[in-house]
Amino acid sequence: MAAGPVDIPVIAIDGPSGSGKGTIARQLASVLGLHLLDSGALYRLVALAAAKANKARASGPELAELSGNMDIRFATADTGDEQVWLDNDEVSDELRTEECGRMASHVAALPEVREALLDLQKGFRKPPGLVADGRDMGTNVFPNAKLKIFLTANAAERAKRRHKQLKNKGIDVSLAALSRDIEDRDKRDTERSIAPLRPAEDARLLDSSDLTIDEVVQTILEWVDELD
Ligand code: DC
Repeated sequence: MAAGPVDIPVIAIDGPSGSGKGTIARQLASVLGLHLLDSGALYRLVALAAAKANKARASGPELAELSGNMDIRFATADTGDEQVWLDNDEVSDELRTEECGRMASHVAALPEVREALLDLQKGFRKPPGLVADGRDMGTNVFPNAKLKIFLTANAAERAKRRHKQLKNKGIDVSLAALSRDIEDRDKRDTERSIAPLRPAEDARLLDSSDLTIDEVVQTILEWVDELD
């Protein structure tokens, strides 16, 4: 496996569902003028592509093959939201549903799928640098990242945030159902045998339960300054 352009700086942000990684990574990339990798979106895309091809229950090797054939495009809308195309169809909204997240967590436990997405993820490492968000950015995909952050928040706060996010989009889901979903997903992502969710040994832990988005971004920017 190619090591990739290891001299290009990477900021790796890992953590559980709803910890705010996506929003924080997007803001950091924008402030620092760096590229962005939303690795969760890739697992969601595999799940979506599989569902569309009636292959939701396919084997790891079959899903790995499907991953390799996906035509994917990312962009940022004027609102700052992520836009994603799969085989020329815009799938941004489908991708963010709880259902898609749940399916993604299942396909992400398959070693063949993780292997198939590895080079694709490494390919996002381009000058002047990358902010990568996911579950195994610091442990597995970019082990030599310049800064590794493990972003957490307590489960109740994460469920509350997700609830608010969905409500703003006009999606009505009960808080109890969301909490159950988040707990299930945490368990699957943490307990799987390959690339489980865990902090890298050299990661800095950041608990965002009582912090605003701006406070989290500010803390990370200070850490980036310390390293420069
Ligand atoms: O961050 P997210 O909710 O979009 O991720 C969706 C699922 O993909 C998540 O439940 C676990 C999986 N995932 C992963 O296993 N490794 C990553 N680097 C990113 C996401």
